[in-house]
Amino acid sequence: MLSKVMRRARVALDPRLGVVRVALSRSLCSARRLIGLRAVADAAARRGVPGAFIECGTYLGGSSAVIAERLWARDPGVAVYLFDVFTGMPEPGPDDPKEAWDDVGKFVSSPEEVRRTYQMAGLPTDRVTITAGLFERTLPGFASPAVSVLHVDCDWYEPVDLVLRTFYDKVSPGGTVIFDDYGHWSGCRKAVDRFLEERGLRVSLTPIDRTSHYFIKPGA
Ligand SMILES: C[S@@+](CC[C@H](N)C(=O)[O-])C[C@H]1O[C@@H](n2cnc3c(N)ncnc32)[C@H](O)[C@@H]1O
Repeated sequence: MLSKVMRRARVALDPRLGVVRVALSRSLCSARRLIGLRAVADAAARRGVPGAFIECGTYLGGSSAVIAERLWARDPGVAVYLFDVFTGMPEPGPDDPKEAWDDVGKFVSSPEEVRRTYQMAGLPTDRVTITAGLFERTLPGFASPAVSVLHVDCDWYEPVDLVLRTFYDKVSPGGTVIFDDYGHWSGCRKAVDRFLEERGLRVSLTPIDRTSHYFIKPGA
């Protein structure tokens, strides 16, 4: 507990971690995870993989602001697409654990709150497209561009599965796919593992912290 408080204090005082500082109060992610996301986004930007940044599961926008800031530092033209229902966590399904029901209805937010986070962080909002609604309704009609970074932060089996099926083939070779809940929610882990197995994808998932994991799409 003490180390968590000290880590937050260190982040609050470190001028290099500007957006992380803002995101701390505008995200469910810990300081450690936000700093890890920042490093992963920075590495993605350095590799110069073409494509947009897409996040599914945005809440107040903190994690997306941290990733977007690093991508924009290298290429201010990167388009950002954020998807969320914003009316609270939907019900989990049969592949999720029963504790998942405790979160139903939590994390209510809005596109205005997301824009506020970007403004607080000194980031532009004109390159950010926010789509409100259940993924089941909003993703099927979305004409996805090529994707350089995909951040999957929607907790339950079904939305994680749908997001992978919608966007994986759009991720550019060398692109980054991040799963916020891989180490925490068993439904998320099951959806990811099943997808990778079904596609015969032999990728190594690298931990950012105890729960968030990512891999680089092969083929670059
Ligand atoms: C853990 S929160 C995201 C946290 C956020 N990335 C941050 O930085 O704090 C998960 C989000 O996923 C969204 N979500 C989950 N399932 C969804 C679905 N089927 N359709 C749309 N949004 C969904 C919820 O509304 C919630 O805001």
